[in-house]
Amino acid sequence: MIKIGLIGFGAIGRCVIETLPKALTEEYEVIGILTRKAADNWVNNIPSYSDIDQLLAKQPDIIVECAGHHAVKEYGCKILEANISLVISSIGALADSVLYQQLKDSSTASKAKIYLPAGAIGGIDALVAAKLGGIHDVTYTMRKPPKAWQGSVAETVVDLNSLKQATVIFSGSAGEAATLYPKNTNVTATIALAGLGFDETKVELIADPNIIDNIHEISVSGETGYFTIVLKGKPSVYNPKTSALTAFSVTKCVADFGSSIII
Ligand SMILES: NC(=O)c1ccc[n+]([C@@H]2O[C@H](COP(=O)([O-])OP(=O)(O)OC[C@H]3O[C@@H](n4cnc5c(N)ncnc54)[C@H](O)[C@@H]3O)[C@@H](O)[C@H]2O)c1
Repeated sequence: MIKIGLIGFGAIGRCVIETLPKALTEEYEVIGILTRKAADNWVNNIPSYSDIDQLLAKQPDIIVECAGHHAVKEYGCKILEANISLVISSIGALADSVLYQQLKDSSTASKAKIYLPAGAIGGIDALVAAKLGGIHDVTYTMRKPPKAWQGSVAETVVDLNSLKQATVIFSGSAGEAATLYPKNTNVTATIALAGLGFDETKVELIADPNIIDNIHEISVSGETGYFTIVLKGKPSVYNPKTSALTAFSVTKCVADFGSSIII
C-alpha cells in the first residue's frame, strides 16, 4: 500500500487525484492534502490540512508538491528529512542553487528520493541519456502569444499590444532567464538540470502574435547525435497557465515510485 500526500489542490493536484487510478496498479491511499483553504466537496473523502505537520503525521510514503516555488522552499527539506519521497512540480524553485543543495543533502541524509517530472515538456529522457554520452549544445525556445508575457519584464522590452510578428524578447542563459522571468522557470530549470546546467543552457523567449497555444522547442547536439523536439501543449482545463501534460507527468512520477517496471 502506497500512502500519498499532496501539497496544493489546484490544476495539477486535481488532475493527479483523477489520474492515479489509471496510473497506479498497486494499492494506494491518498492520505491527505495540504491546502490553503478547506478542500471542496469534490474531495470530501480525502482529509485536507492547513499545517504540514498534520500531513507528515499521517506518514505518507511520497508527497506531491503542486503548489508553487515557495512551497518547495518552505516544506521540501522537512519532508525529505522525515524520510518521505518528494515529487516537485515547481522545478523552477531549484534555480536557487542553495535550495537545490539543501534538498539534495536532505535526500542524501535520508532514504527519500526527489522526483522531478518532465512536466510541460518532453524529451528529458533523451537529454539525460545524451548527456552521459556527451552533449555540446542545448537550446530551449519558448514561444508564447504576447498576452502570456504580460506582467513580465517583456513589457519593458517590446510593446506587446502592437506586435505583428514573432519577436525575441530574451536570449541568454537559463540562469539569466530564471532571474528575469521567474514565472517561466519551471521548464527552463528542468532542461538546465537535465542537461548542461543553468550557465550553459541557451534560452530564447519569443512573443508570437500568430499563435494561440504555447510552443516549446528543445534542440540538443552531442556525441550521440542531434535531436529537436517541438511540443505544442494544450492548457489544463483547470488552469490556462498550466499545460495539460504537466499533471500527467507528475502522476507518472508517483507511478514510478510504486512500480517494479519503470519506463
Ligand atoms: N514543471 C512544469 O512544467 C510545471 C508546469 C506548470 C506548473 N508547474 C508548477 O506547479 C505549480 C502548481 O500548478 P497548478 O497549475 O496546479 O497551480 P494552481 O494555481 O492551479 O494550484 C496551486 C494550488 O496550490 C495551493 N497552494 C499554494 N501555496 C500553497 C501552500 N503553501 N500550501 C498549500 N497549498 C498551497 C493554491 O491555493 C492552489 O490551490 C505551479 O505553481 C508551478 O510552479 C510546473
